[in-house]
Amino acid sequence: MTGIAIAALLQAAASRLQATGIEAPAREARLLLGAATGLTATRIMAYPEQPIEPAAAAGFQNLIDRRVAREPVSRILGTREFWSLDFTVTPATLDPRPDSETIVEAALDRIPDKGASIFLIDFGTGTGCLLLALLSERPHAWGIGIDRSEAAARVAADNARRLGLGDRARFVVGDWAAALAGSVDLIVANPPYIPIDDIPGLEPEVRAHDPLTALAGGIDGLDPYRILIPETARLLRPGGTVVFEVGQGQADAVAHLGTTAGLALHEQRRDLGGIARAIVLVKPT
Ligand SMILES: C[S@@+](CC[C@H](N)C(=O)[O-])C[C@H]1O[C@@H](n2cnc3c(N)ncnc32)[C@H](O)[C@@H]1O
Repeated sequence: MTGIAIAALLQAAASRLQATGIEAPAREARLLLGAATGLTATRIMAYPEQPIEPAAAAGFQNLIDRRVAREPVSRILGTREFWSLDFTVTPATLDPRPDSETIVEAALDRIPDKGASIFLIDFGTGTGCLLLALLSERPHAWGIGIDRSEAAARVAADNARRLGLGDRARFVVGDWAAALAGSVDLIVANPPYIPIDDIPGLEPEVRAHDPLTALAGGIDGLDPYRILIPETARLLRPGGTVVFEVGQGQADAVAHLGTTAGLALHEQRRDLGGIARAIVLVKPT
């Protein structure tokens, strides 16, 4: 078969990615070659001399062009791993971040009983990653994910079905807690928290590809918390927990909003980069 060898294709692609400032050029080149050819990572590594036919090589170049233009790999592939689960991502959803796993960890620590039959809400659900990660760990829990974006809510519902969690997850289009009443055991939320003036300075992968409605949190980034915190204080049952994701430097301000609303600060949890990322507040009994 005519064609260019895997090793030569990868080397040229990795050089282009490196010149663009991509952090892991060889790894990303391999991932994109796998997407263009259907070859597994193992096969790509094991047979560097295998020729790739011209049509597939051209498809690979197209994917590399997109990455050089700073489209994230997860958006090119249409999928992102979070909490060891595969989530479909689309232009309507935030690309889930590894740092957000801190929210899942902190929430799970508040429900140590694996058999707990609890009801949870995820405000600003996006792909549904927070809610679905929690449901995957607590097989008797059920929950609702809320998003203002109908397209995002549809993606989250598809993710739930694909992950086998569709019978315990419902997705609702809505403006935060406006239409809700009830007694909730656990609330999680990763609201948009970037100060509006910071958005032009974000990396192109974020600025040009995450939806603005998933990023912009008003002048200081805290507008959604000002709405959500009193609403969570209203919705939680006594003893119930809310875990908020926050941006760098926002932890104390969000904790203060929580205590002002009558919630008790249980914990500020740091992510792997050492940034206070999860604010855990509990409604007093
Ligand atoms: C930062 S993203 C978080 C997505 C997902 N939970 C995650 O952690 O990857 C924030 C989400 O909040 C949604 N959102 C923004 N304003 C909203 C509102 N007023 N009511 C409900 N959802 C809203 C956005 O559409 C977006 O999906």
